[in-house]
Amino acid sequence: MYARKPMSEIEVQLLEEKYLDGYHTVRSLTYNSGNPIPPERQWTGKPGAFSMVAISNGQVSGSATVLELTATRGEAVLKCGGVCGVAVLPEMRKSGVGSAMMTWLVRHLRETGTPLASLYAFREPYYRKFGYELTGSPFKITCPTHRWPKTTCTLPIQRLGPTDWRQLVDCYTKFAHSRSGLNIRSESEWQRVLGENRPLTIYAIGEPVEAYAVVSHVTTFWTTDHISEVAWSSRSGYDGLLSMLGGLAINKSGLSWREPSDGIFFGEYMDEGIEVKLERPIMFRVTDVPAALRLLKPHSPETGEFVLQIHDAIVPENEGPWKVSFGGGHVTVELAANGESPDLTMDIKKFAQAFMGEPSLTQLAASESIQYESLEGFAAATRLMPAQATYCMDFF
Ligand SMILES: CC(C)(COP(=O)(O)OP(=O)(O)OC[C@H]1O[C@@H](n2cnc3c(N)ncnc32)[C@H](O)[C@@H]1OP(=O)(O)O)[C@@H](O)C(=O)NCCC(=O)NCCS
Repeated sequence: MYARKPMSEIEVQLLEEKYLDGYHTVRSLTYNSGNPIPPERQWTGKPGAFSMVAISNGQVSGSATVLELTATRGEAVLKCGGVCGVAVLPEMRKSGVGSAMMTWLVRHLRETGTPLASLYAFREPYYRKFGYELTGSPFKITCPTHRWPKTTCTLPIQRLGPTDWRQLVDCYTKFAHSRSGLNIRSESEWQRVLGENRPLTIYAIGEPVEAYAVVSHVTTFWTTDHISEVAWSSRSGYDGLLSMLGGLAINKSGLSWREPSDGIFFGEYMDEGIEVKLERPIMFRVTDVPAALRLLKPHSPETGEFVLQIHDAIVPENEGPWKVSFGGGHVTVELAANGESPDLTMDIKKFAQAFMGEPSLTQLAASESIQYESLEGFAAATRLMPAQATYCMDFF
């Protein structure tokens, strides 16, 4: 039995061997119906992820895992901690354990050189308290077969398997750099995404690949099947893929798949009877404002400067005000001189959205979610952080 303790008595640290039993107990009660965690899902300390525990009264009261991912922002790639498996012992919930872990994590990521964090929330308001905010509007499109758009495939079609993932990398990378939020996957991450416990077939359009769909074949007729991943690097690739998927849909009620908010389907092929639904939006948090800004890669002709003030209750070091200048593809960020007043002021949650690009700075200003004093400074900030669809195809 644990007595509920005030937050000051909760300690958070990286998982160590001596806490493994407690760690697995928390995970079992939250994520495995109280059953023991099977060996293949037990913590192994493999590279690419780390786990943390909260200790109350010498016992593990909470745990969480962070995948060491990346996130694109146009041409830039930033390290991003993908937070998952957040869990607190049922009898210890609502006593500050989750808050202690989330607060510790933001600082830990910052101190270990990871300027971004992301997560899929059970409830978004909980994570807003720690500076995360929803970014992007990923759509799930469900198209009935009788509404399938007529497109043509002018490119060769290849049927590939998960071990052929290298053939997808260029297409995926181009897709990822045209947006923000996507993980530039390592070999083991490709294997994780394509290594599900069911056979996956990849239909790739073009040689080299210009679009692909990851399909888990279901032989039952007249079901609505979900395509687990769709990406494209050219318009002819996209149209070719739709045409190919139309063949797959021939004995189905329909197919569903996800697209980012700048996806082609909605703007071109939307029709009565097709459902478009916001699904699994991701939240981002900027753990280190100056480091994140310095990593941006603006187009080299773009130049500008502005002074940015952030409000961040968890990391006051993020607040600035920051003097941000950019040109020749580089960004410099330094503390503004005393007395220099900010051109833009925003909360760290709104900065996550502005930084990733959806909703954009312009949208945020229109809804008065951010404040700006100087039009020139605001315009410069929008050149450095233009509107961009935010999307993630890795789930954790
Ligand atoms: C979600 C979870 C990790 C939170 O941890 P916790 O230790 O219970 O939470 P804390 O005690 O730190 O925070 C509770 C506070 O958050 C508030 N809160 C809880 N849910 C909230 C929500 N949806 N929105 C806003 N605030 C919320 C509570 O009112 C409380 O506020 P208070 O401290 O001002 O009274 C924990 O409850 C848990 O393990 N849940 C089951 C597993 C789960 O859902 N994990 C999340 C996966 S994304």
